[in-house]
Amino acid sequence: MLDAARRLIAPSARSDVPAFMVMDVMAAAARIEAAGGQVIHMEVGQPAAPAPASAIAAARAALASGRLQYTEALGIPTLRARIARHYGETYGVDIDPARVAVTTGSSAGFILAFLALFEPGDRVAVALPGYPPYRHILRALGCEPVAIETTQATRWAITADMLIAAHRRAPLKGVLIASPANPTGTMMTAEALRDLIDAAQSEGIRFISDEIYHGLDYAFEAETAARLSDNAVIINSFSKYFCMTGWRIGWMVLPEPLVRPVDRLQGNLAISVPTLSQIAAEAAFDGRAEMEAVKHGYEENRRILLDGLPKAGIEKILPVDGAFYLYADVSRFCDDSFEFAQRMLQETHVAATPGVDFDPLQGRHFIRFCYIAAIHRGHVARGFQFQRLVQERLRYVVGGDLAAEQIAAEIVLFAHAARRGALGDEGVGEEARADAVGVDRIGADSF
Ligand SMILES: Cc1ncc(COP(=O)(O)O)c(C=O)c1O
Repeated sequence: MLDAARRLIAPSARSDVPAFMVMDVMAAAARIEAAGGQVIHMEVGQPAAPAPASAIAAARAALASGRLQYTEALGIPTLRARIARHYGETYGVDIDPARVAVTTGSSAGFILAFLALFEPGDRVAVALPGYPPYRHILRALGCEPVAIETTQATRWAITADMLIAAHRRAPLKGVLIASPANPTGTMMTAEALRDLIDAAQSEGIRFISDEIYHGLDYAFEAETAARLSDNAVIINSFSKYFCMTGWRIGWMVLPEPLVRPVDRLQGNLAISVPTLSQIAAEAAFDGRAEMEAVKHGYEENRRILLDGLPKAGIEKILPVDGAFYLYADVSRFCDDSFEFAQRMLQETHVAATPGVDFDPLQGRHFIRFCYIAAIHRGHVARGFQFQRLVQERLRYVVGGDLAAEQIAAEIVLFAHAARRGALGDEGVGEEARADAVGVDRIGADSF
């Protein structure tokens, strides 16, 4: 390409956000399916069930009327009122419908919240492991995501002490948490959430709570930040509990001073949220019984995995509190979970997501399983033939018991040999893998 043309179409630096690696896994799974293989999909975090029948019926009726027009920027008033009522019904919390803003999925909620709360250059804390778009959207908007690494010691959540320590190192303007979280599936207790909100607010740090997986809690009931503070920004969505990913509809509960700024931002950025989806969303609340049945399916899947994975040798699993994710440490088998996921897909046709998507530091030790589709015990067994294969091979190669690091070293050698031979060019996104390893070199606190 000519230099002049290249200059004219050079993308902005802010658009240079990493791609989602799960897309590579999906593409590889699709290739297997195109060749006649049957893949067990545990890679993508989207419900397999349809939207509630009540939502679909309302959308049909609206379509039949033939007129779908812009709505108020903050959303159809009856939908905002219905969302406010949901807080009373679910949590016993009184929310003024005037504080509710309807958004194009929670994804648009993040953009609106970050624009309303932060200036370019502001530092905003997020947990590692965590949902990658938090970091990428902040970056694209000129803010600085500050990754706080979480561990088992704090149940994989940011604590008040961790937040304050990061704030003392360099001032933070905000913090964003999710409970239940993606990719870990872990939840914060009400006390842990209260302590964190109190610490943030006493230090002048703005608090954003991503509650998109509320309703999908198994270990204990999820607490809403809306009960704990009128100054927290709550972000939620119809995508997960209500199985409405493609409808692109979510909401925020805003502190009163942010309502008008978000109204102005949304009016300018999008005018309003798709009307058909708003109408469907309001009716979705009538489909809760149907959605509870879907949730019971997840619970059954969760039980099968919790029972089956340890038998397959995967024992180090983070608390499987909520959402529909199980995050497991596979470092016993492989030094690189990307390679692990790649081989598991190729050899057993089970698709899962390597942790490097969610955590550039420790993610290479972890795999995320999404237990949304029907899982059968046979699937678990089939999915983990890979581990058995590896273990048998190791027994054959060296015999006897091995120290963990010897096992890891052997498996890396084995996996490399196998890739040169059997896997050939079938490997998943080598370039993406190199990128992921690249971010590893960046500091632990900020990237
Ligand atoms: C933690 C978390 N937040 C937000 C989203 C975005 O969802 P949506 O824009 O569909 O509401 C996702 C999607 O997977 C997620 O996992």
